[in-house]
Amino acid sequence: MLESKSRDVQDYVGSLQFDRRLYWHDIAGSIAHARMLARQGVLTDDESALLVSGLEQVLDEFARGAFAFDPADEDIHMAIEARLFKVVGEVAGKLHTARSRNDQVALDVRMYLRDELDGLRSDLRGLRQVLVDIGERHINVVMPGYTHLQQAQPVLFAHHMLAYFEMFSRDDERLAACRTRVNVLPLGSGALAGVPYPIDRTSVARELGFETVSTNSMDAVSDRDFVAEFLFCCALIMMHVSRLSEELILWSSAEFGFITIGEGFTTGSSIMPQKRNPDLAELARGKSGRVYGDLMAMLTTLKGLPLTYNRDLQEDKVYLFDAIDTVRPTVRIYKDMLPTLQVHADRMRDAMKDYVLATDVADYLVRRGLPFRSAHGVAARLSSYASAAGKPLRSLSLDEYRKFSPLFEPDVLDVTVDSSVADRDVQGGTAPERVRAAMRDAHGRLAGEAASH
Ligand code: ARG
Repeated sequence: MLESKSRDVQDYVGSLQFDRRLYWHDIAGSIAHARMLARQGVLTDDESALLVSGLEQVLDEFARGAFAFDPADEDIHMAIEARLFKVVGEVAGKLHTARSRNDQVALDVRMYLRDELDGLRSDLRGLRQVLVDIGERHINVVMPGYTHLQQAQPVLFAHHMLAYFEMFSRDDERLAACRTRVNVLPLGSGALAGVPYPIDRTSVARELGFETVSTNSMDAVSDRDFVAEFLFCCALIMMHVSRLSEELILWSSAEFGFITIGEGFTTGSSIMPQKRNPDLAELARGKSGRVYGDLMAMLTTLKGLPLTYNRDLQEDKVYLFDAIDTVRPTVRIYKDMLPTLQVHADRMRDAMKDYVLATDVADYLVRRGLPFRSAHGVAARLSSYASAAGKPLRSLSLDEYRKFSPLFEPDVLDVTVDSSVADRDVQGGTAPERVRAAMRDAHGRLAGEAASH
Protein backbone atom coordinates (compact mmCIF):
# COMPACT_ATOMS: atom_id res chain seq x y z
CA MET A 1 0.00 0.00 0.00
CA LEU A 2 3.05 2.21 0.30
CA GLU A 3 4.64 1.46 -3.08
CA SER A 4 4.61 5.08 -4.06
CA LYS A 5 6.49 6.04 -0.90
CA SER A 6 10.24 6.30 -0.61
CA ARG A 7 12.18 3.49 0.98
CA ASP A 8 12.91 5.63 4.03
CA VAL A 9 9.24 6.41 4.49
CA GLN A 10 8.26 2.77 4.10
CA ASP A 11 10.80 1.73 6.71
CA TYR A 12 9.77 4.50 9.03
CA VAL A 13 6.11 3.67 8.92
CA GLY A 14 6.45 -0.08 8.89
CA SER A 15 6.57 -2.33 11.92
CA LEU A 16 6.90 -5.66 10.17
CA GLN A 17 10.54 -5.88 11.21
CA PHE A 18 9.52 -6.23 14.83
CA ASP A 19 5.84 -7.13 14.95
CA ARG A 20 6.17 -10.30 12.85
CA ARG A 21 6.54 -12.21 16.08
CA LEU A 22 2.84 -11.56 16.67
CA TYR A 23 1.82 -13.79 13.78
CA TRP A 24 0.44 -16.65 15.86
CA HIS A 25 -1.69 -14.41 18.05
CA ASP A 26 -2.84 -12.35 15.10
CA ILE A 27 -4.11 -15.44 13.30
CA ALA A 28 -5.67 -16.93 16.42
CA GLY A 29 -7.52 -13.65 16.98
CA SER A 30 -8.68 -13.56 13.36
CA ILE A 31 -9.97 -17.11 13.49
CA ALA A 32 -12.03 -16.38 16.60
CA HIS A 33 -13.32 -13.20 14.97
CA ALA A 34 -14.32 -15.00 11.75
CA ARG A 35 -16.15 -17.71 13.67
CA MET A 36 -18.04 -15.19 15.75
CA LEU A 37 -19.08 -13.22 12.63
CA ALA A 38 -20.74 -16.39 11.29
CA ARG A 39 -22.44 -17.20 14.60
CA GLN A 40 -23.90 -13.70 14.57
CA GLY A 41 -25.03 -13.92 10.96
CA VAL A 42 -22.67 -11.15 9.83
CA LEU A 43 -20.91 -13.60 7.51
CA THR A 44 -22.29 -16.85 6.09
CA ASP A 45 -21.04 -20.14 7.45
CA ASP A 46 -19.32 -20.84 4.13
CA GLU A 47 -17.51 -17.51 4.09
CA SER A 48 -16.38 -17.99 7.65
CA ALA A 49 -15.24 -21.57 7.04
CA LEU A 50 -13.24 -20.44 4.04
CA LEU A 51 -11.58 -17.67 6.03
CA VAL A 52 -10.75 -20.02 8.89
CA SER A 53 -9.24 -22.68 6.64
CA GLY A 54 -7.25 -20.02 4.79
CA LEU A 55 -5.96 -18.62 8.07
CA GLU A 56 -5.00 -22.09 9.20
CA GLN A 57 -3.06 -22.59 6.01
CA VAL A 58 -1.22 -19.30 6.53
CA LEU A 59 -0.44 -20.32 10.10
CA ASP A 60 0.94 -23.56 8.81
CA GLU A 61 3.18 -21.65 6.42
CA PHE A 62 4.58 -19.70 9.38
CA ALA A 63 5.07 -22.89 11.35
CA ARG A 64 7.03 -24.41 8.47
CA GLY A 65 9.06 -21.25 7.99
CA ALA A 66 7.55 -21.05 4.51
CA PHE A 67 5.75 -17.73 4.87
CA ALA A 68 7.23 -15.29 2.36
CA PHE A 69 7.28 -11.74 3.70
CA ASP A 70 6.74 -8.97 1.22
CA PRO A 71 8.70 -5.91 2.37
CA ALA A 72 5.93 -3.74 0.95
CA ASP A 73 3.65 -4.97 3.75
CA GLU A 74 3.48 -2.42 6.49
CA ASP A 75 2.89 -4.66 9.46
CA ILE A 76 2.10 -8.22 10.41
CA HIS A 77 -1.65 -7.64 10.12
CA MET A 78 -1.34 -6.44 6.52
CA ALA A 79 1.12 -9.20 5.67
CA ILE A 80 -1.26 -11.89 6.84
CA GLU A 81 -4.28 -10.32 5.21
CA ALA A 82 -2.43 -9.93 1.90
CA ARG A 83 -1.46 -13.60 1.99
CA LEU A 84 -5.02 -14.58 2.87
CA PHE A 85 -6.22 -12.86 -0.31
CA LYS A 86 -3.85 -15.06 -2.30
CA VAL A 87 -5.01 -18.19 -0.50
CA VAL A 88 -8.80 -17.74 -0.40
CA GLY A 89 -9.45 -14.93 -2.89
CA GLU A 90 -11.83 -11.99 -2.53
CA VAL A 91 -13.65 -13.37 0.53
CA ALA A 92 -10.49 -12.40 2.47
CA GLY A 93 -11.78 -8.85 2.27
CA LYS A 94 -14.63 -9.80 4.62
CA LEU A 95 -12.40 -10.73 7.55
CA HIS A 96 -11.94 -7.12 8.54
CA THR A 97 -15.70 -6.59 8.94
CA ALA A 98 -16.45 -5.20 12.39
CA ARG A 99 -12.77 -4.78 13.13
CA SER A 100 -10.01 -2.19 12.81
CA ARG A 101 -6.28 -2.58 13.05
CA ASN A 102 -6.57 -0.47 16.18
CA ASP A 103 -8.48 -3.07 18.18
CA GLN A 104 -6.68 -5.86 16.31
CA VAL A 105 -3.21 -4.76 17.35
CA ALA A 106 -4.35 -4.17 20.93
CA LEU A 107 -5.70 -7.72 20.91
CA ASP A 108 -2.49 -9.21 19.53
CA VAL A 109 -0.25 -7.42 21.99
CA ARG A 110 -2.41 -8.47 24.92
CA MET A 111 -2.46 -12.11 23.84
CA TYR A 112 1.25 -12.17 23.15
CA LEU A 113 2.08 -10.47 26.44
CA ARG A 114 -0.16 -12.84 28.36
CA ASP A 115 1.90 -15.78 27.10
CA GLU A 116 5.22 -14.11 27.74
CA LEU A 117 4.11 -13.01 31.18
CA ASP A 118 3.22 -16.59 32.06
CA GLY A 119 6.57 -17.71 30.67
CA LEU A 120 8.39 -15.12 32.73
CA ARG A 121 6.57 -16.23 35.86
CA SER A 122 7.68 -19.78 35.26
CA ASP A 123 11.28 -18.60 34.64
CA LEU A 124 11.07 -16.70 37.93
CA ARG A 125 9.72 -19.75 39.72
CA GLY A 126 12.82 -21.62 38.58
CA LEU A 127 15.07 -18.90 39.93
CA ARG A 128 13.22 -18.75 43.24
CA GLN A 129 13.52 -22.52 43.59
CA VAL A 130 17.26 -22.33 43.01
CA LEU A 131 17.64 -19.65 45.70
CA VAL A 132 15.99 -21.93 48.23
CA ASP A 133 18.06 -24.91 47.11
CA ILE A 134 21.38 -23.13 47.41
CA GLY A 135 20.47 -21.93 50.88
CA GLU A 136 19.56 -25.46 51.84
CA ARG A 137 22.81 -26.85 50.51
CA HIS A 138 24.76 -24.39 52.69
CA ILE A 139 22.42 -24.26 55.65
CA ASN A 140 25.26 -24.11 58.19
CA VAL A 141 27.25 -21.37 56.52
CA VAL A 142 27.55 -18.15 58.53
CA MET A 143 28.69 -14.96 56.87
CA PRO A 144 29.08 -11.33 57.82
CA GLY A 145 25.88 -9.37 57.30
CA TYR A 146 26.44 -5.79 56.18
CA THR A 147 24.95 -2.36 56.59
CA HIS A 148 26.69 0.50 54.76
CA LEU A 149 28.88 -2.30 53.38
CA GLN A 150 30.46 -2.44 56.83
CA GLN A 151 30.31 -5.68 58.77
CA ALA A 152 27.33 -5.47 61.07
CA GLN A 153 26.14 -8.81 62.46
CA PRO A 154 26.62 -12.46 61.51
CA VAL A 155 23.86 -13.98 59.36
CA LEU A 156 23.23 -17.29 57.70
CA PHE A 157 24.20 -17.37 54.04
CA ALA A 158 20.84 -19.08 53.49
CA HIS A 159 19.08 -16.11 55.09
CA HIS A 160 20.83 -13.84 52.61
CA MET A 161 19.70 -16.00 49.69
CA LEU A 162 16.14 -16.10 51.00
CA ALA A 163 16.09 -12.30 51.02
CA TYR A 164 16.29 -12.53 47.23
CA PHE A 165 13.63 -15.22 47.24
CA GLU A 166 11.32 -12.66 48.86
CA MET A 167 12.14 -9.99 46.26
CA PHE A 168 11.45 -12.32 43.37
CA SER A 169 8.29 -13.58 45.07
CA ARG A 170 6.97 -10.03 45.22
CA ASP A 171 7.89 -9.68 41.55
CA ASP A 172 5.79 -12.73 40.84
CA GLU A 173 2.84 -11.30 42.75
CA ARG A 174 3.15 -8.08 40.79
CA LEU A 175 3.13 -10.00 37.52
CA ALA A 176 0.05 -11.93 38.60
CA ALA A 177 -1.74 -8.66 39.34
CA CYS A 178 -0.55 -7.15 36.07
CA ARG A 179 -1.94 -10.16 34.23
CA THR A 180 -5.49 -9.37 35.26
CA ARG A 181 -5.17 -6.01 33.51
CA VAL A 182 -3.53 -7.56 30.45
CA ASN A 183 -6.21 -10.19 30.15
CA VAL A 184 -9.02 -7.94 28.90
CA LEU A 185 -10.45 -8.32 25.38
CA PRO A 186 -10.24 -5.08 23.36
CA LEU A 187 -11.58 -6.59 20.11
CA GLY A 188 -14.97 -5.20 19.18
CA SER A 189 -13.90 -1.62 19.92
CA GLY A 190 -13.35 -1.03 16.21
CA ALA A 191 -11.29 2.00 15.29
CA LEU A 192 -12.41 3.85 18.41
CA ALA A 193 -16.21 4.04 18.70
CA GLY A 194 -17.38 0.43 18.54
CA VAL A 195 -18.75 -1.28 15.42
CA PRO A 196 -22.14 -1.19 13.69
CA TYR A 197 -22.65 -4.97 13.61
CA PRO A 198 -24.35 -7.28 16.11
CA ILE A 199 -21.13 -8.85 17.34
CA ASP A 200 -20.77 -11.05 20.42
CA ARG A 201 -17.66 -9.99 22.27
CA THR A 202 -18.17 -12.30 25.22
CA SER A 203 -17.96 -15.41 23.09
CA VAL A 204 -14.74 -14.16 21.47
CA ALA A 205 -13.34 -13.48 24.92
CA ARG A 206 -14.21 -16.99 26.01
CA GLU A 207 -12.68 -18.55 22.91
CA LEU A 208 -9.44 -16.58 23.30
CA GLY A 209 -9.18 -17.10 27.06
CA PHE A 210 -9.87 -13.52 28.16
CA GLU A 211 -11.24 -13.01 31.64
CA THR A 212 -13.14 -9.83 30.81
CA VAL A 213 -14.19 -7.57 27.94
CA SER A 214 -13.11 -3.91 27.78
CA THR A 215 -15.82 -1.46 28.79
CA ASN A 216 -14.91 1.66 26.81
CA SER A 217 -13.95 1.45 23.14
CA MET A 218 -11.97 4.69 23.16
CA ASP A 219 -9.92 3.57 26.12
CA ALA A 220 -9.49 0.09 24.71
CA VAL A 221 -7.77 1.18 21.49
CA SER A 222 -5.51 3.74 23.14
CA ASP A 223 -4.71 2.03 26.43
CA ARG A 224 -1.15 0.81 26.85
CA ASP A 225 -1.13 1.06 30.65
CA PHE A 226 -0.75 -2.69 30.79
CA VAL A 227 2.48 -2.43 28.78
CA ALA A 228 3.88 0.26 31.06
CA GLU A 229 2.85 -1.76 34.09
CA PHE A 230 4.51 -4.88 32.77
CA LEU A 231 7.65 -2.89 31.95
CA PHE A 232 7.70 -1.62 35.52
CA CYS A 233 7.50 -5.21 36.76
CA CYS A 234 10.44 -6.03 34.47
CA ALA A 235 12.41 -3.02 35.68
CA LEU A 236 11.98 -4.13 39.27
CA ILE A 237 13.03 -7.68 38.45
CA MET A 238 16.15 -6.33 36.76
CA MET A 239 16.85 -4.08 39.75
CA HIS A 240 16.72 -7.12 42.03
CA VAL A 241 18.94 -9.10 39.68
CA SER A 242 21.32 -6.16 39.54
CA ARG A 243 21.65 -6.00 43.31
CA LEU A 244 22.32 -9.72 43.44
CA SER A 245 24.84 -9.30 40.61
CA GLU A 246 26.66 -6.63 42.54
CA GLU A 247 27.01 -8.95 45.51
CA LEU A 248 28.20 -11.87 43.41
CA ILE A 249 30.76 -9.63 41.75
CA LEU A 250 32.04 -8.35 45.10
CA TRP A 251 32.00 -11.78 46.71
CA SER A 252 33.97 -13.34 43.88
CA SER A 253 36.76 -10.74 44.09
CA ALA A 254 40.06 -11.77 45.70
CA GLU A 255 39.38 -9.34 48.54
CA PHE A 256 36.20 -11.14 49.57
CA GLY A 257 36.84 -14.60 48.18
CA PHE A 258 33.42 -15.74 49.44
CA ILE A 259 32.37 -17.53 46.27
CA THR A 260 33.62 -18.85 42.97
CA ILE A 261 31.24 -18.60 40.04
CA GLY A 262 31.11 -21.66 37.77
CA GLU A 263 33.38 -21.80 34.74
CA GLY A 264 30.53 -21.54 32.24
CA PHE A 265 29.48 -18.18 33.64
CA THR A 266 32.82 -16.40 33.79
CA THR A 267 35.37 -15.55 31.15
CA GLY A 268 39.13 -15.33 31.17
CA SER A 269 41.01 -12.22 30.19
CA SER A 270 42.90 -12.09 26.94
CA ILE A 271 46.02 -10.74 28.63
CA MET A 272 45.77 -11.52 32.34
CA PRO A 273 45.79 -15.28 32.76
CA GLN A 274 44.79 -15.27 36.43
CA LYS A 275 41.49 -13.56 35.77
CA ARG A 276 38.08 -15.06 35.98
CA ASN A 277 35.66 -12.29 35.22
CA PRO A 278 32.02 -12.45 36.35
CA ASP A 279 30.79 -11.21 32.98
CA LEU A 280 27.30 -12.66 33.17
CA ALA A 281 26.62 -10.95 36.48
CA GLU A 282 28.08 -7.72 35.11
CA LEU A 283 25.97 -7.89 31.97
CA ALA A 284 22.84 -8.57 33.98
CA ARG A 285 23.65 -5.54 36.14
CA GLY A 286 24.25 -3.51 33.01
CA LYS A 287 21.11 -4.64 31.24
CA SER A 288 18.97 -3.34 34.08
CA GLY A 289 19.65 0.11 32.62
CA ARG A 290 18.31 -1.02 29.32
CA VAL A 291 15.04 -2.23 30.79
CA TYR A 292 14.61 0.99 32.81
CA GLY A 293 15.06 2.69 29.45
CA ASP A 294 12.23 0.64 27.95
CA LEU A 295 9.93 1.72 30.79
CA MET A 296 10.90 5.38 30.47
CA ALA A 297 10.49 5.25 26.70
CA MET A 298 7.00 3.76 27.00
CA LEU A 299 5.86 6.28 29.59
CA THR A 300 7.27 9.12 27.53
CA THR A 301 5.57 7.85 24.38
CA LEU A 302 2.22 7.78 26.16
CA LYS A 303 2.58 11.17 27.80
CA GLY A 304 0.55 13.81 26.02
CA LEU A 305 -1.14 11.46 23.52
CA PRO A 306 -4.69 12.62 22.82
CA LEU A 307 -7.36 9.95 22.59
CA THR A 308 -7.56 7.60 20.89
CA TYR A 309 -5.19 5.56 18.74
CA ASN A 310 -2.15 7.46 17.49
CA ARG A 311 0.61 5.96 15.44
CA ASP A 312 3.06 6.69 18.25
CA LEU A 313 1.58 3.61 19.90
CA GLN A 314 3.22 1.38 17.32
CA GLU A 315 6.49 1.98 19.20
CA ASP A 316 5.11 0.17 22.26
CA LYS A 317 6.21 -3.12 20.80
CA VAL A 318 9.83 -2.03 20.40
CA TYR A 319 10.13 -1.46 24.15
CA LEU A 320 7.95 -4.35 25.18
CA PHE A 321 9.82 -6.90 23.07
CA ASP A 322 13.20 -5.54 24.08
CA ALA A 323 12.31 -5.87 27.76
CA ILE A 324 10.96 -9.40 27.31
CA ASP A 325 14.04 -10.41 25.32
CA THR A 326 16.26 -9.05 28.07
CA VAL A 327 14.48 -10.10 31.24
CA ARG A 328 13.58 -13.68 30.37
CA PRO A 329 17.11 -14.81 29.43
CA THR A 330 18.52 -12.89 32.41
CA VAL A 331 16.28 -14.76 34.82
CA ARG A 332 17.03 -18.10 33.18
CA ILE A 333 20.78 -17.48 33.20
CA TYR A 334 20.63 -16.69 36.89
CA LYS A 335 18.68 -19.87 37.48
CA ASP A 336 21.45 -21.81 35.76
CA MET A 337 24.35 -19.84 37.21
CA LEU A 338 23.48 -19.88 40.91
CA PRO A 339 23.78 -23.67 41.29
CA THR A 340 27.37 -23.41 40.00
CA LEU A 341 28.46 -21.18 42.89
CA GLN A 342 31.12 -22.61 45.13
CA VAL A 343 30.53 -21.16 48.56
CA HIS A 344 33.70 -20.72 50.62
CA ALA A 345 32.35 -21.05 54.13
CA ASP A 346 35.77 -20.74 55.77
CA ARG A 347 36.51 -17.51 54.02
CA MET A 348 33.19 -16.10 55.12
CA ARG A 349 33.79 -17.11 58.70
CA ASP A 350 37.40 -15.87 58.70
CA ALA A 351 36.35 -12.58 57.19
CA MET A 352 34.21 -11.81 60.20
CA LYS A 353 35.98 -9.33 62.39
CA ASP A 354 35.01 -10.16 65.92
CA TYR A 355 33.43 -6.76 66.45
CA VAL A 356 30.46 -8.20 64.56
CA LEU A 357 29.68 -9.54 68.05
CA ALA A 358 29.63 -6.12 69.71
CA THR A 359 25.83 -5.99 69.54
CA ASP A 360 25.68 -9.39 71.20
CA VAL A 361 27.84 -8.15 74.05
CA ALA A 362 25.43 -5.26 74.49
CA ASP A 363 22.48 -7.65 74.40
CA TYR A 364 24.23 -9.79 77.01
CA LEU A 365 24.21 -6.83 79.40
CA VAL A 366 20.60 -6.00 78.58
CA ARG A 367 19.64 -9.51 79.63
CA ARG A 368 21.31 -8.74 82.94
CA GLY A 369 19.19 -5.66 83.46
CA LEU A 370 21.15 -2.81 81.91
CA PRO A 371 19.11 -0.47 79.69
CA PHE A 372 20.03 -0.97 76.05
CA ARG A 373 21.49 2.53 75.56
CA SER A 374 23.91 2.06 78.47
CA ALA A 375 24.76 -1.46 77.35
CA HIS A 376 25.51 -0.11 73.90
CA GLY A 377 27.90 2.42 75.47
CA VAL A 378 29.73 -0.30 77.40
CA ALA A 379 30.09 -2.46 74.30
CA ALA A 380 31.38 0.52 72.31
CA ARG A 381 34.01 1.34 74.95
CA LEU A 382 35.02 -2.33 75.12
CA SER A 383 35.40 -2.49 71.35
CA SER A 384 37.56 0.65 71.22
CA TYR A 385 39.68 -0.71 74.07
CA ALA A 386 40.15 -4.02 72.26
CA SER A 387 41.01 -2.44 68.96
CA ALA A 388 43.43 0.06 70.62
CA ALA A 389 45.12 -2.89 72.33
CA GLY A 390 45.20 -4.69 69.00
CA LYS A 391 43.31 -7.65 70.44
CA PRO A 392 40.12 -9.27 69.24
CA LEU A 393 37.14 -8.73 71.55
CA ARG A 394 36.94 -12.42 72.26
CA SER A 395 40.53 -12.64 73.47
CA LEU A 396 39.92 -10.26 76.37
CA SER A 397 39.95 -11.79 79.84
CA LEU A 398 36.96 -11.71 82.14
CA ASP A 399 38.83 -9.17 84.27
CA GLU A 400 39.22 -6.89 81.32
CA TYR A 401 35.48 -7.23 80.59
CA ARG A 402 34.67 -6.45 84.20
CA LYS A 403 36.58 -3.16 84.03
CA PHE A 404 33.75 -1.97 81.80
CA SER A 405 30.83 -3.48 83.71
CA PRO A 406 30.49 -5.60 86.81
CA LEU A 407 27.59 -7.42 85.16
CA PHE A 408 29.91 -9.56 83.03
CA GLU A 409 30.14 -13.21 84.10
CA PRO A 410 32.32 -16.00 82.68
CA ASP A 411 29.59 -16.92 80.19
CA VAL A 412 30.23 -13.68 78.27
CA LEU A 413 33.05 -15.66 76.70
CA ASP A 414 30.44 -18.00 75.25
CA VAL A 415 29.24 -15.28 72.88
CA THR A 416 30.20 -16.51 69.42
CA VAL A 417 29.22 -16.03 65.85
CA ASP A 418 27.00 -19.10 66.16
CA SER A 419 25.34 -18.00 69.38
CA SER A 420 24.78 -14.60 67.80
CA VAL A 421 22.94 -16.15 64.87
CA ALA A 422 21.01 -18.57 67.08
CA ASP A 423 19.86 -15.73 69.34
CA ARG A 424 18.04 -13.98 66.48
CA ASP A 425 15.17 -16.34 67.04
CA VAL A 426 12.25 -14.14 65.96
CA GLN A 427 9.88 -14.30 63.03
CA GLY A 428 11.93 -13.29 60.01
CA GLY A 429 15.22 -13.59 61.93
CA THR A 430 18.39 -15.43 60.98
CA ALA A 431 18.32 -18.15 63.69
CA PRO A 432 18.86 -21.51 61.94
CA GLU A 433 15.48 -22.84 63.05
CA ARG A 434 13.75 -19.75 61.66
CA VAL A 435 15.62 -20.00 58.39
CA ARG A 436 14.74 -23.67 58.08
CA ALA A 437 11.10 -22.80 58.68
CA ALA A 438 11.32 -20.06 56.06
CA MET A 439 12.66 -22.63 53.63
CA ARG A 440 9.82 -25.03 54.31
CA ASP A 441 7.43 -22.17 53.79
CA ALA A 442 9.16 -21.23 50.51
CA HIS A 443 8.93 -24.82 49.30
CA GLY A 444 5.25 -24.82 50.13
CA ARG A 445 4.65 -21.61 48.23
CA LEU A 446 6.53 -22.89 45.19
CA ALA A 447 4.72 -26.20 45.22
CA GLY A 448 1.36 -24.44 45.56
CA GLU A 449 2.13 -22.23 42.58
CA ALA A 450 3.34 -25.13 40.47
CA ALA A 451 0.11 -26.99 41.23
CA SER A 452 -2.04 -24.04 40.19
CA HIS A 453 -0.33 -23.70 36.80
N1 ARG B 1 1.20 -1.46 13.11
C1 ARG B 1 0.25 -0.70 13.84
C2 ARG B 1 0.63 -0.66 15.30
O1 ARG B 1 1.42 -1.44 15.69
C3 ARG B 1 -1.10 -1.31 13.69
C4 ARG B 1 -2.24 -0.37 13.88
C5 ARG B 1 -2.29 0.60 12.80
N2 ARG B 1 -3.50 1.34 12.83
C6 ARG B 1 -3.66 2.44 12.11
N3 ARG B 1 -4.76 3.03 12.20
N4 ARG B 1 -2.71 2.88 11.33
O2 ARG B 1 0.17 0.16 16.07
